[in-house]
Amino acid sequence: MFDKSKRQINYLRLSITDHCNLKCQYCLPEKVTKFHNNSDLLKSDEIEKIVKAFSLIGIKKIRITGGEPCVRSDFLDILKKIHQINGIDKIAITTNGFKLLENIDLFKANGLNRINISLDSLNPKKYNEITRGGDFHTVFESIKKACLKNFEKVRLNVVIMKDVNDDEIFDFVNLTKNLNIGVRFIELMPIGEGKKFTSVKNSEVLSLIKKHYILEKHNNLETDGPANYYKINGFLGEIGFISPLSNRFCDKCNRVRVTSEGFLKLCLHYNEGIDLIPYLKANVSTEDLAQIIEDAIYNKKPKEHQMDCIKSIEDIKKIETKGMNEIGG
Ligand code: 5AD
Repeated sequence: MFDKSKRQINYLRLSITDHCNLKCQYCLPEKVTKFHNNSDLLKSDEIEKIVKAFSLIGIKKIRITGGEPCVRSDFLDILKKIHQINGIDKIAITTNGFKLLENIDLFKANGLNRINISLDSLNPKKYNEITRGGDFHTVFESIKKACLKNFEKVRLNVVIMKDVNDDEIFDFVNLTKNLNIGVRFIELMPIGEGKKFTSVKNSEVLSLIKKHYILEKHNNLETDGPANYYKINGFLGEIGFISPLSNRFCDKCNRVRVTSEGFLKLCLHYNEGIDLIPYLKANVSTEDLAQIIEDAIYNKKPKEHQMDCIKSIEDIKKIETKGMNEIGG
């Protein structure tokens, strides 16, 4: 479908839980008091109905996000249900990788096409600190295994923060030498706990890398979204930059989000959208749900807004106050 700004919307980011087994410092507070009760999260059959409705309006790609999606004990069931829906031809996941090692073949066999793994340090001690308890070796083994399994794409999400991991940029770049992986540098957005850290502009990361390497622009796949990719001659993998702060991409936005509590969220940075739960509770038909979703998406923030319209008090009230773990990135 197309929205009012004539952007084609074909990508849904679906958060299935706000819970996470890690507590990355820029994402979750040390003492999380705010996790939703499991009973408030979308059930797997509700997820199935929502995704069916989205497929009816032309959504082709689903990314399952969290929190950490694999903390749900019915993750495989959800994956299977989505895999069976006509019209969904890409299923991706964003994960911290903690459950991948033992499940990767199962996930692949049940329709998972793409994996993004969040990894902000290659130093086990620092990784443990940033994530407040994560085990680097497990995640790294998962990453290496995933790269050998012929997924369409395996990518790392790396959020560079000043004085935290900005000394590791070349270590991440060098990973792409022997691994067929996309390392993506993501600018830290001032959302939730992210406000406590200083982001590093991707233009700085890029010019630093360019001092040592010749980067060749690498064409985006149609479904790649806002990342710009580069390759170093002779390296197996690629490097990507997602720059929500310095290079806003509202005019190319092709996505909407559904939170783990069933809120259809039209823009990452605003809380505008509609609650799908009343419609699920009223047991509306999948076709009617699709129409409701289509009408809401039509009115997605116009492409010109570029977040610059945050000028008045009224606008500030509308700005997103949820944590990233509730939204799924
Ligand atoms: N800014 C940018 N990226 C973030 N992520 C989580 N919080 C932020 C933030 N404030 C990233 C995670 C994960 C992806 C879903 O979003 O690292 O890889």
